[in-house]
Amino acid sequence: MKLSIFDDYADLSYQVARIIYEQVRSKPGSVICLASGDTPLLAYNLFTVLLKHTPVVSPHFTLVGLDEWIGISPENKGSCSYFLHRNIIDPLLLPPEQVRLFNAMTPDPEQECRLMDEFIQSKGGIDLMIVGIGMNGHIGFNEPGVSPGLRSHVIALDETTRTVGQKYFTGAATLTKGITLGLKYLLEAKTAVLFASGEGKAPIVKAALEGEINTGVPASLMRKHPGGRVMLDRRAASLLTPGT
Ligand code: F6R
Repeated sequence: MKLSIFDDYADLSYQVARIIYEQVRSKPGSVICLASGDTPLLAYNLFTVLLKHTPVVSPHFTLVGLDEWIGISPENKGSCSYFLHRNIIDPLLLPPEQVRLFNAMTPDPEQECRLMDEFIQSKGGIDLMIVGIGMNGHIGFNEPGVSPGLRSHVIALDETTRTVGQKYFTGAATLTKGITLGLKYLLEAKTAVLFASGEGKAPIVKAALEGEINTGVPASLMRKHPGGRVMLDRRAASLLTPGT
């Protein structure tokens, strides 16, 4: 795993945007898995600008959504689906065949997990995963204590996730379960980038990078990834022990 620290959110976001752009440029047909949330907003917007203004020979890549709130419809502005449509899929006019998002409204979420796993397998696995870190150290909806060997799965959301997750919704949302790609995908992805911004993330970033490596803090598993990159702005890195 490689750690990089950037001056501020804008610089960090630009570097993450470049990584996504380079992936698309260097390997036509890349499979890219993207998280939602506040952190990636600018990176995704910069990526769409880069791709529009510096077109690549073959812009065809497959976008896989990392996770979704069970029972929240894609029309809901707080859903991961809405976020990815608004910030990547719609600006780039990605056709449906290049996009695979979890259907969290399905009556059979277990079947939805199997379909997602089959889809990813049919594409040959994930080339690049871009993830954030939750206030409890989660990645996607891989909550503390999750098994590291899981692929797509349904999981009960941690109290922290249920509370913090309200920030994405305009009214009170009932958040109980999530559907998510598992940590096995993170560890198998050719490249995995975890990025974080702001001093609010500094304590959990420190725990992930300096504490024990186990799923008590799921993001600590990034340290086992040979192609893993943790990218932070100075504020998110502010509690790290110098020399980490
Ligand atoms: C969302 C997701 C979550 C977020 C994490 C950080 O798709 O996978 O794990 O990445 O909760 O969220 P923000 O960026 O809003 O702080």
